[in-house]
Amino acid sequence: MAKIFYFTGTGNCYSVANRLGEKLGAELVAITDYLSHPYIVEDAVIGIVTPVYSMDLPQVVAEFLEKVQLKETRYIFCVATMGAMAGRSLYHVKDLLHKRKLILSAGFTVTLPDNSIIFPSGEKRMQMLLAAEEETVNNIAELLKEHEENSVKMKDCFLLKISAAVGMWSLKSVLKVKHKKINEDKCNGCGICAKICPAGCIIMEKGRPVFSEGCLTCFGCAQWCPNEAINLGWLHPTGKTKYVHPGVDVQAISGRNMLDCKQ
Ligand SMILES: Cc1cc2nc3c(=O)[nH]c(=O)nc-3n(C[C@H](O)[C@H](O)[C@H](O)COP(=O)(O)O)c2cc1C
Ligand code: SF4
Ligand code: SF4
Repeated sequence: MAKIFYFTGTGNCYSVANRLGEKLGAELVAITDYLSHPYIVEDAVIGIVTPVYSMDLPQVVAEFLEKVQLKETRYIFCVATMGAMAGRSLYHVKDLLHKRKLILSAGFTVTLPDNSIIFPSGEKRMQMLLAAEEETVNNIAELLKEHEENSVKMKDCFLLKISAAVGMWSLKSVLKVKHKKINEDKCNGCGICAKICPAGCIIMEKGRPVFSEGCLTCFGCAQWCPNEAINLGWLHPTGKTKYVHPGVDVQAISGRNMLDCKQ
């Protein structure tokens, strides 16, 4: 038996996890669901599908790797989806598992359109990346069926570590992406932002979203909002910087918002 744990904001990781799940006969589990209701995982094969944030792992994925309870697992793999640069993300998975005497057997990257607003992929590149996704993921699935081993190649370096930390600090402290602002004139109260938030830190009150602490900086709320009503600090996805995976719908990634947030 196999399980694939995924974290997603705008659907890239869900799309990759879903395709891999079909190819490998693996069950999909949202990382946020697991963290809110942890249990002992007894599957022989475990996959992790994560986005790259500031050349590193999202904090919630690192937390998952520190906490997931594994028994009888014989093969662990990771797929990182990214706009352009994976940085130290795969190495970080290997290192966190190593600290728990677990082994990351294989890691892969899949380049997909960038949802970060700061570095939009551009229309042409976006279409090219989406067109290549199926073949890329199918190839990864074939390697995984053969239990590919490639994690020795994953390395870290001091400069990468510093750049990743500075990048995330800038997002939070300079661009203030955790500070959400709603444009009351644009919001129609559809509730999509609250449904897709993986942190569960958006609730609808009197037809308007209310944000509490616990944001995982996935950018999903602003990207999925059909009316471009959400500002993430200084960032506001619109036109060329707006992106959600075209093959994933709100329904598919709704209801994973189980993390306990400080309301
Ligand atoms: C906060 C944040 C930081 C990001 N940093 C990087 C990065 O350092 N390198 C990169 O290639 N992509 C970066 N991205 C883009 C995402 O990794 C990429 O679009 C990913 O596929 C999104 O996955 P999702 O759709 O499952 O959320 C970043 C996205 C966000 C929201
Ligand atoms: S998704 Fe946008 S329009 Fe819908 S409730 Fe949220 S902020 Fe308002
Ligand atoms: S509030 Fe934070 S975690 Fe929730 S959808 Fe928005 S960016 Fe993602």
